[in-house]
Amino acid sequence: MSYESESAITRRDFAKAAAAGLAVLGAARSSQAAKGKRPLKVGLLGCGNRGTGAAIDMLTGNDNLKLVAMADVFEDRLKSSADKIKNHSNEQVRNGFAVKNSHCFVGLKAYKEILDTNIDIVIEGSLPYIRSKHIEAAVNKKKHIFTEKPVAVDPVGIRRVIAAAQKAKEKGLSIVAGTQRRHQQEYVETIKKIHDGAIGEILALRVYWCGGLPFAFDRDPKWSDLEYCLRNWYNYYWVSGDNIVEQHVHNLDVANWVMNDHPINVFASGGRTWKPRIEKYGDLYDNFSCDYEYKNGVHVTSFSRHWHKPCEGGVFEEAVGTKGRSACNDMGTKGINPYVQEHIDLVNSVCGAGPYYNEGVQVAESTLTAIMGRMSAYTGKKLTWDEALNSDLSLVPDDLSFDKSYPLGPVPSPGAPEKA
Ligand SMILES: NC(=O)c1ccc[n+]([C@@H]2O[C@H](COP(=O)([O-])OP(=O)(O)OC[C@H]3O[C@@H](n4cnc5c(N)ncnc54)[C@H](O)[C@@H]3O)[C@@H](O)[C@H]2O)c1
Repeated sequence: MSYESESAITRRDFAKAAAAGLAVLGAARSSQAAKGKRPLKVGLLGCGNRGTGAAIDMLTGNDNLKLVAMADVFEDRLKSSADKIKNHSNEQVRNGFAVKNSHCFVGLKAYKEILDTNIDIVIEGSLPYIRSKHIEAAVNKKKHIFTEKPVAVDPVGIRRVIAAAQKAKEKGLSIVAGTQRRHQQEYVETIKKIHDGAIGEILALRVYWCGGLPFAFDRDPKWSDLEYCLRNWYNYYWVSGDNIVEQHVHNLDVANWVMNDHPINVFASGGRTWKPRIEKYGDLYDNFSCDYEYKNGVHVTSFSRHWHKPCEGGVFEEAVGTKGRSACNDMGTKGINPYVQEHIDLVNSVCGAGPYYNEGVQVAESTLTAIMGRMSAYTGKKLTWDEALNSDLSLVPDDLSFDKSYPLGPVPSPGAPEKA
């Protein structure tokens, strides 16, 4: 597959824009751009915890927006999300809620219905297994996109996102991704200093996301396999991508950002060391260790895990150079909440009041970086970027239905082929 590996803002225009004195990031501009124009119409697709949070953050940072449509596979999630937004303590958020019953869509086809409305921006807050299809459909319907990460769970999904991001660029559509460190002032300033030579030539990086056990639900006997997988989503790798893809993607994204590139190969190990092998903990590994190599010979050491206390946790990125070392957020100043800033940047991009953002390829590359680490750990084999990018691995069933049975597990055994 060939594609343009630069995202429109982060790798090329950012430097130009910054040099020209544009306040790309940093001060909240509360969507000055949108003032005097009709309010932008926003739809929320995937009304769970983060989707609801993203809608609140978008309304908090931008005062000329209306949330006009919502969609979720489950009605209870949509209703509790709507309640949270319309009863929010921030008046601007409450006033931004303008969703009529006719614009609430439920079920597996709800994404099509919300994209058929006249929304300008869609917030994609659903789950990794389906996100690439939602992004593709949103671009086809000419919507600007805020998408949560990761954007796919397999290489087939990654290629779908890359193609959609390229199409978005042709259509002038903006895409901002929930890899929010890219909009966090401490990171932006530190990584600019690293790029400007503050620690010399980069020799190596280390990136970690070592946390505890995520949520896990027992199955309600009324739930079909699919309903169980979607409600207990983190624990099935065809839905979440496993912890390296779901969480550690943030830190791998920072590594790619510092390196201004993606890795050329990975060699990884992983396994399930302590997590009980019972249904609610699904089929994930609980630890991954990866050695990524980049074109210039630099290696990135990565760890991610779900281990119980008293094991130590840590979320961290550090670059080591010929003249020193620095955490990737250590040489910057604190800005506003990056979860709000990312929406200010998106809205300014949509309105033409700030630089154009299309982070689609960038977040697809960071997601593939995580996926290739998982593929290497599951198979026990070293893997190149091109092998991962061009792999036919597709984990998500084409025929999703609440009436069908799906295999739940087993936990992958290193050396066995990855299940499709
Ligand atoms: N950027 C961050 O820091 C950050 C933080 C937390 C979560 N996230 C990401 O946000 C996403 C959602 O996580 P969450 O914790 O909100 O989960 P959640 O379960 O609370 O929300 C997901 C929602 O998507 C819905 N959904 C599932 N399949 C759907 C479909 N086909 N169509 C429409 N809706 C569908 C679910 O019913 C649910 O309401 C995940 O990808 C996660 O990685 C990002």
